[in-house]
Amino acid sequence: MNSEGRIKCQKLLSKVTSAEQAASLITSGSTIGMSGFTGSGYPKTVPQALAARIEQRHAAGEPFRVRIWSGASTGPELDGALAKADGIEFRLPYNSDPIAREKINRGEMEYFDMHLSQVAPMAWQGFLGPLDTALIEVSGITADGALIPSSSVGNNKTWLDRAKQVILEVNAWQSADFDGMHDIYYGTALPPHRIPIPLVRPDDRIGEPYLRCDPDKIVAIVQTDTPDRNLPFAAPDAVSRTIAGHLLQFLRHEVSKGRLPPNLLPLQSGVGNITNAVLSGLLDSHFEDMTAYTAVIQDGMIDLLAAGKLRMASATGFSLSPEAALAFNANAARYHGKLILRPQEISNHPELIRRLGCIAMNGLIEADIYGNVNSTHVMGSRIQNGIGGSGDFARNAYVSIFLTPSTAKGGAISSIVPQASHVDHITQDVQVIVTEQGLADLRGLSPKQRATVIIDNCAHPDYRPMLKDYYERARKHSYGQQSPSLLNEALSWHQRYIDTGSMKPGAQG
Ligand code: COA
Repeated sequence: MNSEGRIKCQKLLSKVTSAEQAASLITSGSTIGMSGFTGSGYPKTVPQALAARIEQRHAAGEPFRVRIWSGASTGPELDGALAKADGIEFRLPYNSDPIAREKINRGEMEYFDMHLSQVAPMAWQGFLGPLDTALIEVSGITADGALIPSSSVGNNKTWLDRAKQVILEVNAWQSADFDGMHDIYYGTALPPHRIPIPLVRPDDRIGEPYLRCDPDKIVAIVQTDTPDRNLPFAAPDAVSRTIAGHLLQFLRHEVSKGRLPPNLLPLQSGVGNITNAVLSGLLDSHFEDMTAYTAVIQDGMIDLLAAGKLRMASATGFSLSPEAALAFNANAARYHGKLILRPQEISNHPELIRRLGCIAMNGLIEADIYGNVNSTHVMGSRIQNGIGGSGDFARNAYVSIFLTPSTAKGGAISSIVPQASHVDHITQDVQVIVTEQGLADLRGLSPKQRATVIIDNCAHPDYRPMLKDYYERARKHSYGQQSPSLLNEALSWHQRYIDTGSMKPGAQG
């Protein structure tokens, strides 16, 4: 480990200590603002030391739980370790850790799932309560004490500004070439003092490369060389390749109609295997000179940059496979000028997404025949991950696209249902739905027109007759005919799955 070489500020070297010592400065009941976004740039050693301390206290019969705020999801050393120790009382704004997910779904952890762009403003508005500690991973500290962010920016600026005390993890695993890749904008304010954010192109730099931090607030600095979470992506299969194919055909069609320029508009690509497969599809397409204005850089985005198809990408963090992360670290200097990492309140800002005209591409759990989308809750009540940035982008994009296989769990679940069991994105925010069956372009269509196109183009053949039957009966018997529905039947497919393990009638539980 060579983190000391990363700490150029002599005054701050005296604050270097062990993870255990740093964790001892965190008290039960306190709120911690963690760095980290989709498994990148999160602190790794202090949360594990804190989890060990919590376990000891619990073994002694003493309660010890903390409140965790972050940028988005972190990794097993943070959410996993603290959830396993039963140490998290409250969590926001996004989680994908399986242990934490289980605790939330058992009702043992409070979870506030919120739009990622709104976290920092809401913290400043004071709605979230006081912030005791900022625990932030950085890739280095400059001679005058400025912090060089690592593989994500997330809400770090806000946590550093708002927290009473700051603990830093300096991670030597992160590339030293991150220096200069970030753009930290300090011009945000609360109403009535807000001014326009001066970003008009995805490659504009409007801030400074480093995070500011009052050195007197820094109570501990811990060194580490632990890698980011870096989970592998599933290789694109026939279903995801077909979805990507439909989408690419749509984009070509939009260009031919003059509704999109030949190099498209800034791309936003959500988390997950399907959206990563779409990026792989773009690699083989004829589109050139593309840009991305997105929250997360996945493998597919790096491949597009490396191939020169993507001119540049702006984001707030990475979500890479282990191989892609190693390759990126070895070649990070090459990406200077091509990659810009910003605070998530800027990467996901509605004003900027609307101005730039992003093409939003996100995954979903289910969509209903009217195009309401559920991105978060399985069977209406079990959280999968969270809304993340999908709402920031879907509502404000130039065109808002959702992508999904037409079935889940080996065909036992239809992704197209009579009524979504939970709604994250209302029908007005959902313009295109793509499954391996086809693409539904919903722009300008009334609810009844939407239902026909979604059922015909997107539903799996096993479920299409059931959806048609439901819709035809709703056309006859619904209380109203704007968005026909049979209230006593609309969610019966979900109940059948809960009762029998399948949405198909006749399956045995
Ligand atoms: N019912 C039950 N489970 C479902 C389901 C459904 N209708 N649809 C998907 N799932 C399950 C899958 O079976 C899979 O479960 P597993 O991990 O146990 O195998 C899991 O959800 C992920 O689904 P997958 O098909 O692999 O898709 P994905 O990786 O593309 O993720 C979302 C889909 C919706 C979970 C993901 O896109 C997400 O979290 N979205 C919200 C956040 C977001 O969009 N952020 C983007 C901007 S930052």
